[in-house]
Amino acid sequence: MAEKGPPPPHPSQAQRGTREGAAQADLSGQVALVTGASTGIGRHLVEALASHGMAVAGLARGEERLRAAMDEVSATTGARTLAVAADVTDRASVEAAVERVVEQLGQVDLLVNNAGLIDALEVPLWEADPDQWWDVVSSHVKGGFLLSRAVVPWMVLRNRGRVVNIASGMSVRARPEYSAYSVAKTGLMRMTEALAAALEGSDVRAFDVSPGAVDTPMTRSMAMWQGFEDWTPPERVVEMVLAIAAGELDAWSGRFLRAGADELHVVRGVTPERDARQLRLVPYGDVDPLA
Ligand SMILES: NC(=O)c1ccc[n+]([C@@H]2O[C@H](COP(=O)([O-])OP(=O)(O)OC[C@H]3O[C@@H](n4cnc5c(N)ncnc54)[C@H](OP(=O)(O)O)[C@@H]3O)[C@@H](O)[C@H]2O)c1
Repeated sequence: MAEKGPPPPHPSQAQRGTREGAAQADLSGQVALVTGASTGIGRHLVEALASHGMAVAGLARGEERLRAAMDEVSATTGARTLAVAADVTDRASVEAAVERVVEQLGQVDLLVNNAGLIDALEVPLWEADPDQWWDVVSSHVKGGFLLSRAVVPWMVLRNRGRVVNIASGMSVRARPEYSAYSVAKTGLMRMTEALAAALEGSDVRAFDVSPGAVDTPMTRSMAMWQGFEDWTPPERVVEMVLAIAAGELDAWSGRFLRAGADELHVVRGVTPERDARQLRLVPYGDVDPLA
């Protein structure tokens, strides 16, 4: 009889990870555009994409911090990088930024919509500052829309390219103190679905990647993460985006993946069907007329 003992400890986020390790794809010759590249997750992504051979353009509002980040990445990886300062919610700036990227690095193979804000006040929505509330929604939704609108037509013309929208647990479940962010991330996820559906039949694809809980300036500013320690290693986000860039997860176009929970060696072998990992109503039972 098997000896009974205490259950094995639940592995930490850092101990989990992919059995086969990060994608080792050679992405050289390809071009990535990452928004929100100057810090946090965006900063990790530009470094990883550059070290896998991509020429990488980073976009953020604060020019000095962005330029320093992109110069550092170029110095450590030897890759071509470009800093394009712009506000993702400003149509003219986004269009000019994308034009610069295409002129200086070439057509974009991978767009990562990562830039965005979080509710500053952490109050129920009726107490929220209306301007800040809309700024949060706009940073994710208008930002993702304007970037996609500027980049995707060229992807369609070349019949190649991938868009990654950085999602969140709040894409699928609202939190009362982050109502703008919940609305924004759900809207962005719906945008991924609409985009992927419109692109069906082409070799251009769109994905939602939720990063889990990564230690960044954003999470440091949020009361809900105070005292939290089981952070998702940024490497988990990076390997997911690298796998997408390498075309390993194309079957997941229009659907939600979660770094740190989804293991690459598992999702690589899954072809999700019907509405799997998409935003839907949950029926209340078999007789639900909306089921
Ligand atoms: N960290 C997490 O655990 C976590 C979890 C779920 C989802 N996410 C999502 O992951 C993404 C990155 O998060 P993070 O934690 O790395 O955030 P962060 O540390 O706050 O970094 C945000 C980045 O976005 C840029 N940015 C913000 N507003 C912008 C705008 N209007 N136009 C252009 N750039 C803008 C910032 O630079 P400037 O201020 O200079 O513009 C900065 O580079 C966000 O979409 C976030 O919602 C993060």
